[in-house]
Amino acid sequence: MLVDSHCHLDLPHFDADREAVIARAWAAGVTRLVTIGTGLPSSRAALALAERYAGIYAAVGVHPHEAKDFDETTLTELEALAQHPKVVAIGEIGLDFYRDWSPRDAQARAFEAQLDLATRLELPVIVHDREAHAAVLATLRAHLPPSPSQGEGPGMRGVLHSFSGDTAVAQAVLALGLYLGFTGPVTFPKAADLRTVVAAVPLERLLVETDAPYLTPQPYRGQRNEPAYVRYVAEGVAAIKGLSFETVAEQTTANAEALFFSHTDTETQKRPG
Ligand code: NI
Repeated sequence: MLVDSHCHLDLPHFDADREAVIARAWAAGVTRLVTIGTGLPSSRAALALAERYAGIYAAVGVHPHEAKDFDETTLTELEALAQHPKVVAIGEIGLDFYRDWSPRDAQARAFEAQLDLATRLELPVIVHDREAHAAVLATLRAHLPPSPSQGEGPGMRGVLHSFSGDTAVAQAVLALGLYLGFTGPVTFPKAADLRTVVAAVPLERLLVETDAPYLTPQPYRGQRNEPAYVRYVAEGVAAIKGLSFETVAEQTTANAEALFFSHTDTETQKRPG
């Protein structure tokens, strides 16, 4: 069994064959997947998919690329969407200083407001960080919710998705209590730096994800990515760590269950009938 902890099934890349893509995921042993919103329309679309399929869950949020349009109304609507029992996280949120498609002050405002929203709703966060490691870490530290050691709250829960930093950044993220998510590039022959990071991250703190339709792993690199290919990411992690595929699949599934789904299952069990 496997969990694809990050994909974008609402995108038009899947309009022609979405049903078949989802069916192939289940056939490949994917038991659950999280489809991630990047703005309000995309968050609504992600939730619509989650309502239609038992194994699909949604994250709602505004991506740094779309942060220029983020305002109080956006925040109110996100909060309303996040009440749905199949919303398992706020995301994806964060900072992208590589593309800079939104002004950096707008990115910072959207990121901070959504971190606070996640704290208020006690939901995990899914964080996007592209060439913004120092600023992302500083923002996360400044918005740390109260930790259990302080006798209240769940502490920081979430994942730094498609991790692209070095081992020092990884250690800082781990120290904050977050998971690290890895994608197709772990399978690329030239990604030696990334393999060093994967080797240093404890398996208990690691998630596998596709970020489909992007970041396609070997052997399908260059084609559209899809959740079924999360198996190749897990195989890549297993090869780097010298572990069996089954060990990586089991532990990363347990990690995703702990981060995203334990609360959902409790809620489901609590519901009468
Ligand atoms: Ni993504």
